[in-house]
Parts: sequence; C-alpha cells; structure tokens
Amino acid sequence: MRVIKTLREMQTVAKKWHTENKTIGLVPTMGALHTAHLSLLRKAKIDNDFVVLSIFVNPTQFEPSEDYHIYPRDLARDLEIIDGVGIDIIFIPEAADMYPSGFKTTVEVKELSTRLCGAVRPNHFQGVTTVVTKLFNIIKPTRAYFGQKDAQQAIIIKRMAVDLHMEVEIVVLPTIREEDGVAYSSRNLYLSPKERQAAQVIPRSLELAKAKIMQGERVASRIKQQIQDVIQSEPLAQLEYISICEPESLSELEIINEGTLIALAVRIGKARLIDNITAEELS
Ligand code: PAF
Repeated sequence: MRVIKTLREMQTVAKKWHTENKTIGLVPTMGALHTAHLSLLRKAKIDNDFVVLSIFVNPTQFEPSEDYHIYPRDLARDLEIIDGVGIDIIFIPEAADMYPSGFKTTVEVKELSTRLCGAVRPNHFQGVTTVVTKLFNIIKPTRAYFGQKDAQQAIIIKRMAVDLHMEVEIVVLPTIREEDGVAYSSRNLYLSPKERQAAQVIPRSLELAKAKIMQGERVASRIKQQIQDVIQSEPLAQLEYISICEPESLSELEIINEGTLIALAVRIGKARLIDNITAEELS
C-alpha cells in the first residue's frame, strides 16, 4: 500500500496502469473510515486489478455553517481500519492542489442537486460533483464505488457520468448497518451515547414504512405521516425532511411504486443523519 499526496504522482501511476490495460477501482472518501467503506473497498478489490482509496475532506461540499473544520481527520486510524484489505494506493491530495488559486470551474447537475438534501445544503452537491470529476480526471478509474446510504449523491453522480460521457462505471452498494439498524456514517462519531441510542429511531421509522408498504399501503402522504410520527416520538430527533420520490428524477410521488426512494434527514445533537430505503418487488 503506497500513500500518494501529489496529483502528478497519482496521474503518473494511473497512466502506467492504463498503458498496461489494467482496471482501476476508485473508492472516493473523506476519511473517518468505517465498515461501510470497507465493503466498497472489498468489492473494488474483487472487481479490479488495482484499487485506489482517496481521502480528501472536500471544503467545497460543506456549507459555511457546517462541520468542515471539525470533520474527523485521523489518518492513523484510517490506515488501521483498511489494514489487510489489499488497497494499492491511498491518495491524499492537498486542498491547495485540488483547488489551485484562480480556480473557477465547477460541475453542477441541475435540479437533482436542489432537491432533498440540496434544499438545505444549496452548495453541497456542486461541491461533490466538482471534486468527484477532478478525481475521475486525475485517476480515470474503470469503476467508482459509492454507498446507497447517500442515495441522492449516487443518483447525481450517475447522472453526471452519463451527461458528461465519463468512461467510468458507477457502482452503488447497499447500505451497511450496525447491529441496531443505524446506518454506518462518519458523522455517527458526533453522537453521545444517549444520542446514538436515539438514532435508532431512524431505521425504526423506515422499517415501519417498509412493513406498511409490504401490507399494501401505497399512498405516499400516509407513509410520510407514519415516518414523521415515529421520528417525533424521539425527543432528541429533529426531522429535517422525508421524501418519497422517483429514483432518477427525485420528483416527489403521490403513489409508491416499485423502485420508489424513501429518504429522510434527521438532526440529532450535532449530527445530521440521512438514511433511505427503496420500495422493491411490489406487485
Ligand atoms: O461520500 C463522500 O464521502 C463524499 O461526498 C465524496 C464522494 C468522497 C466526495 O467528497
């Protein structure tokens, strides 16, 4: 496992692999690695000749009021977590290299970036698509891996890759959950033990929604109400939004169909947590 910090060196290594016709799997992260990142890395390892893990806390995807400065950064711990996975390169670029002075170009996926999380984080997805484009241009991966927990991010990146003719396969892997159902997230680190327990209300609300849908409920407003009731039963949880939407356009739906995305964001203490399920195999 080699640590690369400069864009030039990363480009040189990637170019060499390309001339040898090797496949490259990229797992872009902001560090604070956990089990869900490991599942992306392991799949990338199975699918490709080489695996690059990028760790970059991307300043442009944080709103001014958000947690950029306190976002957990612990490279030693990250290296411990990935020990034994067989990653070839850890790419840790500097912000000054990723965003050189005079930098003026951004990538924006219209409409999709303003819905769901984008309604309260107006610059977030532009920051994500810009940095992911930069990583794709530097590494030119064969495949890039993202988690379904960040469903909107994955949908937007897929749209961007199609729209901009990017020669990369976007692989989205299922949400990985802790034993009590809470989805793995770097931001779970912000939760006190009490808040961590309160966070169980999120998967519980989605499980209830799933059960109701399986029993035949298809009216989105009723499912939203049920999710809201469960979340509001937890005093430490503050519901930000619930969306029941079509999974490509992210347009809100009145009636739930196969593939419908049910997504929510909840604030607990300092953490803003997101989660989702999709309605599958409805007859
Ligand atoms: O999902 C994340 O960790 C980030 O949004 C990503 C994709 C690494 C871009 O900074």
